[in-house]
Amino acid sequence: MTTNRTFTMIKPDAVENGHIGGILEKITSAGFKIVAMKYTQLSTRDAQEFYAVHNERPFYGELVEFMSRGPIVAAILEKDNAVDDFRALIGATNPAEAAEGTIRKLFASNIAENAVHGSDSDENAAIEGAFHFSGREIY
Ligand code: CMP
Repeated sequence: MTTNRTFTMIKPDAVENGHIGGILEKITSAGFKIVAMKYTQLSTRDAQEFYAVHNERPFYGELVEFMSRGPIVAAILEKDNAVDDFRALIGATNPAEAAEGTIRKLFASNIAENAVHGSDSDENAAIEGAFHFSGREIY
């Protein structure tokens, strides 16, 4: 079963580089409705927990440090086929391999600091959305 929601973060690199507005414009122009959004910062513990699935990877420490070093924008997005359509909009994990016009091609620096997060499944979209938002923060 597919649901119509996904979860995203505009990561610290994109916030530092002034790309919040540009990225939100790409997201809404592509037909996604923002149903929850906040400007916040992950603690080290938050980032460790959010990325626990990667804790055996060699880049885990670097990832936790990066994701907690400055503010992010977290959001839940709604659209038919949201998870797959959003992953197409953001492009490959490595911006060097991302298609022209994708958010990572336009705004990301490298595979580690890649501007945006997009959930990889409906199940993770629900888990990740609930990590950041209570029911009364979703509209
Ligand atoms: P994302 O796919 O949103 O979630 C996992 C993150 O780990 C990924 O974005 C990158 O920020 C980071 N990542 C993935 N691969 C590497 C890598 N080879 N080196 C460093 N960071 C990585």
